[in-house]
Amino acid sequence: MTKKILVTGGAGFIGSNFIDLLLQDDSFSVTNIDVLTYAGKMENMHSFVQHPNYRFFPIDIANREELNKVFDQNYDAIVHFAAESHVDRSILEPSIFLQTNIIGTNNLLSAVVNGYAEKMIYVSTDEVYGSLREGEPPFTEKSPLAANNPYSASKAGADLLVRAFHKTYSAPVITTRCSNNYGPRQDKEKLISKTIAKAFNDEKIPIYGDGMQIRDWLFVEDHCKALSAVLQNGKVGEVYNIGGGNEQTNLDVVKQVLNSLGKSDTLVEFVEDRKGHDQRYAINWNKINSELGWKPAVSFEEGLKRTIEWYKKNGDPT
Ligand SMILES: NC(=O)c1ccc[n+]([C@@H]2O[C@H](COP(=O)([O-])OP(=O)(O)OC[C@H]3O[C@@H](n4cnc5c(N)ncnc54)[C@H](O)[C@@H]3O)[C@@H](O)[C@H]2O)c1
Repeated sequence: MTKKILVTGGAGFIGSNFIDLLLQDDSFSVTNIDVLTYAGKMENMHSFVQHPNYRFFPIDIANREELNKVFDQNYDAIVHFAAESHVDRSILEPSIFLQTNIIGTNNLLSAVVNGYAEKMIYVSTDEVYGSLREGEPPFTEKSPLAANNPYSASKAGADLLVRAFHKTYSAPVITTRCSNNYGPRQDKEKLISKTIAKAFNDEKIPIYGDGMQIRDWLFVEDHCKALSAVLQNGKVGEVYNIGGGNEQTNLDVVKQVLNSLGKSDTLVEFVEDRKGHDQRYAINWNKINSELGWKPAVSFEEGLKRTIEWYKKNGDPT
């Protein structure tokens, strides 16, 4: 019997990579819901759109009536990626972030409580923990949530809602909080894909403030494998941090991309810092390592090489 998985946001960066991984295994069938915002792209789904174990609904998760259409069958699990995901956009206009990230998550949780899915994995983010100072230990699953911008606040709101549904209704849910992903199919508004796109055209690469903000970078394929481990063996009611063990300043990351492309550092242009910009994220992923045996396998050098190769072959990140 195939395991029926409902993926939300599968036309986006991480969701489409995750569907690729799932469909390598014949024991899974995938239903993908994605409303195709600017971040959701038909070309991200090319590799699996014809797969016999795949179907697609271009539906808004925040629209409960529409959403009901995908519950023409029950699911073994929902893996919930769909979100407005870009911090800068959330600073300009937060409302859609609340609508998709909180109301949409609430709709999916209600479906779980009503018995339409055996469990749900909520893909949250390390940004819900807020910012670390230099020298502070990385966030653990027990660190308090202290979001600092409308995007991370909306993710934290949904993260707490997932927790509340478990405590209140015994909803079978699991939350993952991962660090910054990079890799094939990422929209060019994000740091690494933007740097690649601009460097291809010898355009200036804007860096916020002094570029000394620190992020932990995780190759998307490693993230998808972690989610697969959580899907198959994660414990209901738990939170799992997923990190790359690879903290770097934004400036260093950009310089490495430029170096790999044979371009000069003079393309870097420092611009006014982002409002409420978090200084440092770092994540302790001991729990998923010791309980589920996962650890990141792709080094930053290797992941960057594979990402650049992908963009060279597939054109500018769109
Ligand atoms: N990219 C990262 O570095 C990162 C890090 C931590 C957590 N996350 C989380 O992982 C998830 C996926 O991130 P991503 O980088 O792939 O994002 P993305 O922006 O590339 O993809 C999001 C997808 O969700 C879809 N979507 C948006 N609103 C929708 C709605 N109302 N109904 C249905 N579909 C909708 C979009 O069309 C898009 O295909 C998000 O929940 C994000 O918060 C991402």
